[in-house]
Order: sequence, then C-alpha cells, then structure tokens
Amino acid sequence: MIGLIHTVQFGYCGLMDSRISARALTAALGGWRTSEPAYEALADGIRLLCLDNRLAPRTALPAERELAVALRLSRSTVAAAYRSLRDTGHISSTRGSGSVTLPLGRRDPGSVAALEGAIDLQQASPPAWPGLAGVMADVASRSAALVARTGYDVLGRSELRAAIAERYTARGIPTHPREVLVTTGAQSAIHLLASVLLGRGDRVLFETPTYPHAADAFRRAGARLVGMPVTTSDGWDLDRAQQALARTLPVAAYLMPDFQNPTGRSMTSVERAGILEAAERSGTVLVLDETTADLDIDRGPIGGAGFADAERDSVVRVGSLGKTVWGGLRVGWIRASAEFVRRLVAARSAHDLGTPEFEQAVAAELLPRFDEIVAQRSHLLREGRDAAVAAIRSEIPEWSAPDTHGGVSLWIELDAPLSSAIVMEARSRGLLLSAGPRFSVDGGHDRHLRLPFTAPVDELRRAVGILADAWPHVRSGAPIVASEQLEAVV
Ligand SMILES: Cc1ncc(COP(=O)(O)O)c(C=O)c1O
Repeated sequence: MIGLIHTVQFGYCGLMDSRISARALTAALGGWRTSEPAYEALADGIRLLCLDNRLAPRTALPAERELAVALRLSRSTVAAAYRSLRDTGHISSTRGSGSVTLPLGRRDPGSVAALEGAIDLQQASPPAWPGLAGVMADVASRSAALVARTGYDVLGRSELRAAIAERYTARGIPTHPREVLVTTGAQSAIHLLASVLLGRGDRVLFETPTYPHAADAFRRAGARLVGMPVTTSDGWDLDRAQQALARTLPVAAYLMPDFQNPTGRSMTSVERAGILEAAERSGTVLVLDETTADLDIDRGPIGGAGFADAERDSVVRVGSLGKTVWGGLRVGWIRASAEFVRRLVAARSAHDLGTPEFEQAVAAELLPRFDEIVAQRSHLLREGRDAAVAAIRSEIPEWSAPDTHGGVSLWIELDAPLSSAIVMEARSRGLLLSAGPRFSVDGGHDRHLRLPFTAPVDELRRAVGILADAWPHVRSGAPIVASEQLEAVV
C-alpha cells in the first residue's frame, strides 16, 4: 500500500496486491465532480489518485455496482468511467476478477517519459548549494584514505557525529556524539524510527496536512494515524492535540515544529510547551522532524523554552542535509538518547548497512560551514517565496497566498475545493503539482494547493501563469455546491 488510502493488502498474487473499498475510494476522490460528463470526471479523479501514488499499481477497484451505490451514481456512469480508464491504460479488467490499476504508461502525464519539458513542482527540492561541487572534488582527491576503511558503517563516522552533536549543543541542546546516528537521509531515519517504535495497529499522532512520505512510512509499519489540524493562519490546534493525546494515547507523534511542510508554520513556545506536556502525560514519543527547520527566511529565532531545554528520552529528533545542501546527498541523522540509538543500530541492518562513506566525508566538511550555507538558502528561498506570492496575489487574487516565513512551500487556500481538479488540468498544460489531499492524514484538503517556492523564479512565474489560465476553466466546470458538500462528508 502506498499513499493516503487505506487498502487491504494481500500477499503477492500476480495481478493484484491490494484492494480498495468503495467507501475508501469515495473518500479519497473528494470533490471529483468538477466537469461534464460525470463519467469522465470520475475517471479523471481516479487517474489523479494513480498519478499521485495514492492508488498504488495493482490495486483492485470496487465492483461497479458498489462504487455506484457509494457515489450515488448510476451503474452505467461508473461502467463508462472504468471503460475510459481501460482505454487510457490506467486499469485492466477481467471477467470474474474485476478491475485493477496498472503502472503508469509512458505517455501518462505522471510518468517519467512525459515529464520532459514540463515544470515539475511535485517535489519541493532546492538546487544544490553552489559550493557543494567544490567540496565533493576536494573529498574525492582524498579518496585513497576513504576506501582504506571497512565501508560498512551503521552508526556513522565519528567526526560527522561529533559535528552534528556540536550543532545541537550550540542550539542549546547539549548532545554527545553517541546520541547521534547518521542515516541515509531523513526518510530512511523516519522509516527506521517507525519500524522500531511501532507495533501493528499502534496509533501515531500526525499533523494534517503533513509530509506524505512520513505518513506512508508509519502506515507501512502498521500505524493507525490520528490527525491533528495545522493551519497557516492559526498554527497548531492545541486543544485538539491535547485531547487526541489524552484520548488515543498514541505511541508516537510525528511533528515538524519549524517551517512545517507544507504549511510553513512554526510552533509558538506555548504550542511547544503544551504539546510536550500532553505527550509526557500520555507516554508518547515525540518524533520531531527538523529537515526544514533551518530554512528561515524572515521568522528569526523562536524564543522561550519549548522543546529545546526539555530534552528527555521521549523526544527524538530527525535532521537532514537534503534541503539545506542538496537532496542528492542522502545524509540525515537521528538525535536520541544513547540507549535508544543502540536499539536503532540493532534494528538498522535489516534496512541498510550504513550511510555511504563518501557522502559522510562530504557532510563532515559541510557542517562547519553551516551558517554560510543556510544564509545562501535563505536568500534563494526569499526570492522564490516573494515571486510566488506576488504572482498569485496579482494573477489569481481569489486565492489566498499566506504569509510564510520559511520552509519550502506556500499552502495556498483556493476559493473552491478544487485542488484535485486544478492539478489534473495543470498536468495537461505541462505543470506538475501535488493536490492538497496528498498531504492529508484523514481525507480532505481539496481546498488547498501546495506550491513549492524552491524552483527558479521564472519557472515559478510561468507556473502561476498556467494556474491562472487553467483556473477559470476548472471553476466554470465545477458544481461547487455539490463538491463543497462532499468535502464536508470526507
Ligand atoms: C519534512 C521532511 N522530512 C523528510 C524529508 C526527506 O528528507 P531526505 O531527503 O533527507 O530523505 C523531506 C523531504 O522532502 C521533508 O520535507
């Protein structure tokens, strides 16, 4: 199972790996009915779920009759939608076994072959820090010493762990190198944490919207996710967070306190203190993902106590050079108690046998230059954010581009719940984005669109131009009242 949708998994059985119920598909589709004819709008909705990876290949779709009942449509409309999906190569159907999604085809707007020439804003990945190639060349010139090492390094090079520990200590979080484990990027850290912290069926608190690959990793480890709303205007819903912690007693909470992806919000000191206190009462481990935490544009440091001076065994931090230096570097880390690091190391070999030596050596050279690196990032992100906000406000004033002080993206509020529809329309015009529901934990968010501002300024302006041209088209085809009602149900 990949993505947001709860599917039932099967052992490998050739054509089908999992099955989605009519109810789950209806919820995932959200406000799908944005154009006529209805069967084509439904087929487009299912196509988007495939493109977004919310419907994995080889997932069995509900029978036509069941989906028709769930969507309150005639069976012939669903049959026509399935026929359209068969014609475009998105599903195959066999008599007796029903319909199954297929891997994306070469000409599909989501496939690699179709990306050429398109503006791809599905990922929020800044270009490499300009000094990186020079540092790599430098390290390469010393590679004889590097290859003299054994090469399997499940804990991380001692000089790199010391440099990471030093940065935490400088932030006011005293850290010993044995409290640091180097990983192959933050994603691998999250995956390892999920597998060590969880048992099947355990609950995990997640912000919604959230970083979807973390949600995927926790779901795959068997977690049941509990959503806690975060908005660009009001931040964390502290009451809901405290109630969810007290009521559901989650084993862990996965949070991004600084420049949350995708909203760009940072927790106030009151929110930090409130969540920490409630988590301690419920015995919940706080997994703080700080991958985006250094991407400050104009927020400045957060004052007050919060998590920083309250490091206990129940707080685990994840960091990475993926956004500050380059996503291709694949160096991340976990900061946790020495005892927990030992548990992680013991479990790690089943996932991977260490972080590559070359990348670690490069990272060890970069960390002492971190202040210079984040200053360059801040400049780059400011340009992107300012260009994206200005373009949205002038070209699509009916959308609400929030004030965002750091991070990688704008979490834009649309004036109608048509995120999936605009994403589909933009794809056909050469702009690739992820729809709001991709970032949701429990459905919804079709009123939001994530626009990464990590791309070059002229690309961002062209992207907004495409959205501005596409929006009236999408808006005019949409029975808004019906889709708003649908979103409320989801
Ligand atoms: C919040 C967050 N965590 C983790 C990751 C993954 O980072 P890495 O590239 O280090 O695996 C990303 C990447 O987009 C992210 O935005």
